[in-house]
Amino acid sequence: MKKEVTNKVKRIDTEVDRLRMRHKDTDTLKVTDNVFDDPTLKTLYTLSNKGILKAMGGPISTGKEANVFLAEGEEQDIAIKIYRISSSTFNSMEDYILGDPRFRNVRHSKRDIIFAWTQKEQRNLIRAKEAGIRVPEPIIAERNILVMEFMGENEKPYPQLKDIKLDKEVARDVYDTIINYMDLLYNEANLVHGDLSEYNILIIPATNEAVFIDMGQSVTREHPRSREFMIRDIENIVRYFKKYGINEDPHELYAAIRDKEEKTQNTD
Ligand SMILES: Nc1ncnc2c1ncn2[C@@H]1O[C@H](COP(=O)(O)OP(=O)(O)O)[C@@H](O)[C@H]1O
Ligand SMILES: [Mg+2]
Repeated sequence: MKKEVTNKVKRIDTEVDRLRMRHKDTDTLKVTDNVFDDPTLKTLYTLSNKGILKAMGGPISTGKEANVFLAEGEEQDIAIKIYRISSSTFNSMEDYILGDPRFRNVRHSKRDIIFAWTQKEQRNLIRAKEAGIRVPEPIIAERNILVMEFMGENEKPYPQLKDIKLDKEVARDVYDTIINYMDLLYNEANLVHGDLSEYNILIIPATNEAVFIDMGQSVTREHPRSREFMIRDIENIVRYFKKYGINEDPHELYAAIRDKEEKTQNTD
């Protein structure tokens, strides 16, 4: 190994050790330990060698399937989402991948499903962005690691919708934007988010702009369960905004978005 590369590898090892130390006392130790298995460390080295990853920062989130870290990128802070290879909840992933024509040729070993899933999240984010939806810009998907734009400032991620209190008029604007994003996602990107809720929407505090995140499970309209997922997404959003005095019927909203689909098809 070249000296420069060895140094980089050492640096990531040290960073990873530091993260482990920091979490020694908490119950995240197990998950943090799990996430940095050898194949994942190797992938981090690859990203470092490509110059994409300069240094690992602190953990942002430990979810059911993935850990998200802040990191130093080439020119800006980046978010690194690492899908755990040893995660136990991946059976449900097959349901989403199998109905998606884009993944017809994916082999069905657990690792391959996780790699495909990571690719899928990147592709979904790109499609969403192209449709005009505010999402973290993906930088690269390498095996089980998705590198993307860090949505936050001063090393702190923007808050999730669930954690902020909005003024009533602002809430209406945020709600309208979210419904418009679901419409764009469906009619322009041909996607259904599939896990949309106050947890997977960040709010930029300065401007109250909504950002959609967490699109690994998003499916195309052709997916056999896309209708069910879409209605569930709409129901989550409608339910959440009830406390701001917004009362809309999820099925009417769904029909309105669907109607546009028929119109788009008729003019093709
Ligand atoms: N690009 C990003 N920039 C800043 N924070 C992020 C980013 N992506 C995810 N996060 C943070 O990490 C959390 C978990 O990410 P998410 O993609 O929702 O994964 P999970 O599948 O674990 O829910 C989010 O709620 C958010 O707080
Ligand atoms: Mg999430």
